[in-house]
Amino acid sequence: MRKKRIPDTMTVAVLNSYSGADALSIEQRPIPTPAKNEVLVKVAFSPINPSDLATLTGYYGLKNPTPIVPGGEGSGEVVSAGPGAMARYFLGKRVACTGWGKGGGVWSEYVVKSVKGGVLPLNKSLSLEQGAMSTINPLTASAFIAITKKGGHQSILLTAAASSLGKMVNRLGRNEGIQIVNVVRRDGQVDLLKAQGSNIVLNSNEAGFEQQLHDICHQTNTRIAFDAVAGPLTNQLLKAMPPNSKVIVFSALSRQAVQASPDLLIFENKMVDSFWLGPWLSKQNLVKIMLLWKRAQKQIPSQLKSEIRKIYPIQEVKEAIRDYTSQMTGGKILLRMS
Ligand SMILES: NC(=O)c1ccc[n+]([C@@H]2O[C@H](COP(=O)([O-])OP(=O)(O)OC[C@H]3O[C@@H](n4cnc5c(N)ncnc54)[C@H](OP(=O)(O)O)[C@@H]3O)[C@@H](O)[C@H]2O)c1
Repeated sequence: MRKKRIPDTMTVAVLNSYSGADALSIEQRPIPTPAKNEVLVKVAFSPINPSDLATLTGYYGLKNPTPIVPGGEGSGEVVSAGPGAMARYFLGKRVACTGWGKGGGVWSEYVVKSVKGGVLPLNKSLSLEQGAMSTINPLTASAFIAITKKGGHQSILLTAAASSLGKMVNRLGRNEGIQIVNVVRRDGQVDLLKAQGSNIVLNSNEAGFEQQLHDICHQTNTRIAFDAVAGPLTNQLLKAMPPNSKVIVFSALSRQAVQASPDLLIFENKMVDSFWLGPWLSKQNLVKIMLLWKRAQKQIPSQLKSEIRKIYPIQEVKEAIRDYTSQMTGGKILLRMS
């Protein structure tokens, strides 16, 4: 393989304080050198996810001292490898990379990543655009289905269901014969999900929502909920489901504390639990993770596909974030690194 020419410096988006997108600046930095069991990835694309927005305001679970480079996932090509057989194996390969662990976020032209979890090989059939969104949401949607099946459930209650992740869970659910009870916050989202084949979609801002949700959860015996919103909605879900049900909170889009009435927890044995992809993956064995990854990649062109609304160069990251937050349901915004 011909060695790719690597320049001395790279363009990086830097977050200078946890005060939102205005604290981002574009800088030139020296390109890092991979150490043992590490590779240098030339990053192609990275999406803006809700977890990135949470990172910008210091609301995410990983909060290193600023300045930091944000960007939770991306795709690219391995252009240089440190010592070690695994690192050499990746040389020249197209990969998905995560913003976790050493090397930090991927809103950067180049990033060093550990071969132990920082990079995953991409199927030849996948575009780098879809590859950039192949870890966080696809693996989370797959995890939700695995948790649902393990608990012996045949239906799921899901909030913020018109999100990219929500659409994935709906498509996987249809494939697996699992009923999805969808909750969204606008009529346009009801229409969108129905047009994509979901038959149960409720608007939480409509009059009579609580009664409708109660009736549907009892008719479908829905006892597990995945909640991305938190705040008072969590209590509405708990109230609507039959006794012995569980709400798994996996985000806090409302930025409000979870509400749960003690009587529902004590007298109806209802529970509130949580889900975070990284810790969930670290509890699975390596074979299971590799199988999950292999299956997810096969499903990315179909059930696990993310719609792309627009691609911005990294230099326009602030404009890209403004565009994304103005219309999150409309598809993903990707950042192009070079
Ligand atoms: N815990 C984990 O490991 C994990 C992993 C993956 C994803 N997630 C979470 O999953 C969620 C979906 O991610 P995504 O990438 O699929 O999102 P996305 O495609 O960007 O869509 C976000 C959706 O959330 C809706 N939304 C935003 N704020 C809301 C609020 N306060 N109440 C109700 N709905 C709201 C948006 O609706 P509008 O268009 O009306 O704004 C939009 O439909 C995010 O919260 C993300 O953090 C968590």
